[in-house]
Amino acid sequence: MDEKPFVTCKRIVKAYRVAKHEIVALRGIDFEMQRGEMVAIIGPSGAGKSSLLNLLGGLDTPTAGQLIVDGQDLLELRGRKLADYRLKHVGFVWQQIERNLFAHRSALRNVTLPMMLAGVPGRERRKRAEDLLTAVGLAEHMHKKPAALSGGQQQRVAVAVAMANAPALLLLDEPTGALDRSSAAQVMDLVQELRERYALTVLMVTHDLEVANYANRVLTLRDGALGQDISHPAEETPRLDDSGRIRLPDAVRSQLAEAPRIAVEIRPEGVLLRPEVDEQEDTDAILQDMLPQDAPPEKRRWRLFGRRTKSESRS
Ligand SMILES: Nc1ncnc2c1ncn2[C@@H]1O[C@H](COP(=O)(O)OP(=O)(O)OP(=O)(O)O)[C@@H](O)[C@H]1O
Ligand SMILES: [Mg+2]
Repeated sequence: MDEKPFVTCKRIVKAYRVAKHEIVALRGIDFEMQRGEMVAIIGPSGAGKSSLLNLLGGLDTPTAGQLIVDGQDLLELRGRKLADYRLKHVGFVWQQIERNLFAHRSALRNVTLPMMLAGVPGRERRKRAEDLLTAVGLAEHMHKKPAALSGGQQQRVAVAVAMANAPALLLLDEPTGALDRSSAAQVMDLVQELRERYALTVLMVTHDLEVANYANRVLTLRDGALGQDISHPAEETPRLDDSGRIRLPDAVRSQLAEAPRIAVEIRPEGVLLRPEVDEQEDTDAILQDMLPQDAPPEKRRWRLFGRRTKSESRS
């Protein structure tokens, strides 16, 4: 593919300062997304998934690294331009339904609100809100307030709100986490449909592998580091043989090759093979590299999910 990536994350580090401590939520994230692609991120609680989405949504800034969305360097955006980016270029859907919608506004007035903030004239925003609510299957419910709608319906309104200003990037943080199976499938079918119709690029966090299946690619995030892309073409999908052996793809084998031992963990999102390293030593190294706060880490001595980058040939 010779097209420029739509999203580029380069060595993204995010540390939160809490009292006198640093919490390192993201430890050097590198990834790209093509325009129109849908990527799912799975990973345990505290892995840094929401932190990453917040950075891409312009709601927070990384401690170090580079973030480019649709040719815009997010770190260069300030003031009005940053507000514009949040309002017009990216749409968010959160797991917590109450975070997506204003309880005292009808579905229609929830959808018109972001357009109002973006300066869209009254008649036009009403028309577009009606179209969006029709597209999400809620034409008959548009005058109801969120409390009069089911959870699934509320999340579909949330998708319409996220789409209000026709963003190019949709960020979904556990959008189906609070829904039953069939409502989750409805919301995901809807996202899929909108994605095709509007050539949306979608980054979605989920704990649900069935939901992750909607994506073109599934990435794992653990302890602030991305693991390998775990989606394979069908013919390369590893299979367990009768005696319980599995032939790992080369990319996985090279990640594990140097580990003296491999820890096997059963996690909600699947089974994790992890090279065993001294966790404490790693964390100390990161914290040292992190200081001073704003400088990008010169050398990264820690391993990312057992993964080495070129600059880390020594350890
Ligand atoms: N505003 C903040 N201030 C301090 N620490 C934070 C803040 N936000 C996140 N963290 C910490 O950063 C780490 C990653 O948090 P994050 O919310 O990104 O994880 P997550 O993968 O979204 O988890 P979950 O699946 O539970 O939503 C955690 O250790 C968390 O406690
Ligand atoms: Mg989260």
